[in-house]
Amino acid sequence: MLETLSEPAPDKILALMAAYRADERAEKIDLGVGVYKNAEGATPVMRAVKEAEARLQESQQTKSYTGLAGDPAYADAMIGLILGEGAPRGRLAAVATPGGTGAVRQAFELIRMASPNATIWYSEPTWPNHVSILKYLQIPAKPYRYFDSETGEVDVPGMLAALEGVAPGDVVLLHGCCHNPTGANLTGEDWDKVVALLNDKGALPMVDLAYQGFGDGLEADATGVRRIVAGCPEALIAASCSKNFGIYRERAGLLVALAKTESEAKLAQGNLAFLNRQNYSFPPDHGARVVTEILTDAELRADWQEELEEMREGMLALRQQLADELRRLTNSDRFDFVARHRGMFSRLGLTPEEVEQLRAEHAVYMVGDSRINIAGLNARTVPVLAQAIAQVI
Ligand code: LMR
Repeated sequence: MLETLSEPAPDKILALMAAYRADERAEKIDLGVGVYKNAEGATPVMRAVKEAEARLQESQQTKSYTGLAGDPAYADAMIGLILGEGAPRGRLAAVATPGGTGAVRQAFELIRMASPNATIWYSEPTWPNHVSILKYLQIPAKPYRYFDSETGEVDVPGMLAALEGVAPGDVVLLHGCCHNPTGANLTGEDWDKVVALLNDKGALPMVDLAYQGFGDGLEADATGVRRIVAGCPEALIAASCSKNFGIYRERAGLLVALAKTESEAKLAQGNLAFLNRQNYSFPPDHGARVVTEILTDAELRADWQEELEEMREGMLALRQQLADELRRLTNSDRFDFVARHRGMFSRLGLTPEEVEQLRAEHAVYMVGDSRINIAGLNARTVPVLAQAIAQVI
């Protein structure tokens, strides 16, 4: 039987990770997979996570099953983080999922169950795995214009014009902040325009929120999702704790559904629990419990926020340094957008040949579309990268 299988399409980001590991050059620079790294190139366990794990080690008396939706305290704490005080809790359903990808996957399945013919619109470009999962689930999907590669910014009029094509009942997938792969984001006003257009079309927004706290701060990064929840009758939110808590391998995510009414929220809650049962029964608990411990303890929460801010400010400083260095070396403002972008990623606008040349001649690894992970740099390697870019363009 197994011989009938064909090779799956390789995942570009994971293939790059493997190629980097196999490269023996000492001076190699990894700007590939979206994992935060400090100046020493390490992805450390955050202080608050270590402390929460130590406390759990002491206090936890059982590893027996949680509920199918995960620990309700986790959903409450995460909803507070994402939506703040104004969360319409009665209209929300939520389940813990294995990471943000798990939440995306469950959201797609819920959409397919509720409305098999709905088209899911995704930004062009988007995280490649969005498109891959949609294809795998055979869900009708269409791209919408998002990024202007000439300016390095969001093409808001182009985006709104493309979304004019959305049919009632379609779903529009949006990146809550820190757009992956471009780094270019909507402003609060842009979000309002999107909310108005989606309501006008009768379309449902789905927000992928994988980098809250990595852009302009925890509150500012939730602007888009909060405007969606305040302004739309229904919405889906797929949130990840991988990056902002640095617990990548623990697989802690949350899927939230905003329903029109409390009874519809209960219906959604039952269906989300059912989907968990079908796919993996109980969601993983350890990472979720660590997050709950941190978010519900004032001291741990303050320490976590402080460390997250240090990470965010470090990435902003690297952005500025890289933009300055490229401005100096290229004698142009071509790469100024790097300083304006937010989050881990920027798409530099290099050709695939230039990206390949950077790998072959300079041991610099970035995704083929010229997406770089800013956190893969440090003060020493920024000039090295800038020099290499200036040489290949
Ligand atoms: C990325 O885009 O690099 C991250 O989201 C990691 C992943 O799973 O692809």
